[in-house]
Amino acid sequence: MGRANKVVLAYSGGVDTSVCIPYLIHEWGVKEVITLAADLGQGDELAPIQAKALRCGAVESLVIDGQAEFVRDYAFRAIQANALYENRYPLSTALARPLIAKMLVEAAEKYGADAVAHGCTGKGNDQVRFDISIMALNPELKVLAPAREWKMSREETIAYGEKFGVESPVKKSSPYSIDRNLLGRSIEAGPLEDPMTEAPEEVYLLTEAIANTPDEPEYVDIYFEQGIPVGLNGQILEGVELIERLNAIAGKHGVGRIDMIENRVVGIKSREIYEAPALLALIDAHRDLESLTLTADVTHYKNTVEEIYSQLIYRGLWYSPLKESLDAFILKTQERVTGMVRMKFFKGTAKPAGRQSDYSIYDPDLATYGMEDQFDHKAAEGFIYIWGLPTKVWAQKLRG
Ligand code: ARG
Repeated sequence: MGRANKVVLAYSGGVDTSVCIPYLIHEWGVKEVITLAADLGQGDELAPIQAKALRCGAVESLVIDGQAEFVRDYAFRAIQANALYENRYPLSTALARPLIAKMLVEAAEKYGADAVAHGCTGKGNDQVRFDISIMALNPELKVLAPAREWKMSREETIAYGEKFGVESPVKKSSPYSIDRNLLGRSIEAGPLEDPMTEAPEEVYLLTEAIANTPDEPEYVDIYFEQGIPVGLNGQILEGVELIERLNAIAGKHGVGRIDMIENRVVGIKSREIYEAPALLALIDAHRDLESLTLTADVTHYKNTVEEIYSQLIYRGLWYSPLKESLDAFILKTQERVTGMVRMKFFKGTAKPAGRQSDYSIYDPDLATYGMEDQFDHKAAEGFIYIWGLPTKVWAQKLRG
């Protein structure tokens, strides 16, 4: 008896996931492997990947375009939550995992598979995200993770694959581990493992070095409807195209690079370089529109929710009861986050330069220092007397 009969394997076309196919069949007694490559805008050509899976022994090789769903149901939800893990990482890789898990489970159910599989190792966050998302969506399915159990070095993995017709990589493999999708790129390993080593320019693909950015600033009007980005510069755009266009603009101005040491779920600290041009600019713009349209107390309370929400995404709990409950809160807060933010892109920064909304609760007659001022200055005196009273009593007591 093998570990499973029919398996749907998350497939990228790389060496590790390719080796998973013969490994599942020959070591773990799986009868049929169906591969699933999710197109989330990683820029790979998918037809060769599809053919490759069949050459490696898959009985069926699925390619599914998930870009629109990725943007609508994952990225835009994260933007509504201003989600930044450890205040910096906009979760561009993390957000893709629950969607891939959902596709795996749907395919397993459609094809009558008893297990799903992925090529993650035992050290990363992605295994946590896949395993938990899959168990949340269908607790009956087994999850197989061959690369978590095989004890093969890189060379041994390649040699094992060659025995079963998996081509070894043609190019000398890059020292980096790179994950890419529509939202950005994550780059780690190789020389980056030394936290003092500056990332060489060659690791960046989506963002220009400041030395090569335009000498003129560029203004982009970003429109939001209920916290969802819906257009740029007077034009309504569908999500994928909006992200693509803004990636190009922000990237050209060198916006969207992050270099950080982060705390992984499995307890390890790791050094990661990110490029997420559009996503970072959208979060900043969105937060700015909230500052115009939300009351102070909702904004401040939402900040604490955002922190937890970001952790949930990072830690693999996208399909969890807490996440669902926080979604209800966040959605409610977004009802009036409709309007426009004018962002200024220049020399590696994207900053709000202006904002407007029909739901603005910024009141010029209250804010002004001019003659139109409607604010009741006398009322401040009584307010301060009461607001400061406990502090005053405490200070008096101290002085004896
Ligand atoms: N550290 C990021 C995360 O956990 C990215 C993981 C994948 N990174 C990579 N370079 N392959 O979301």
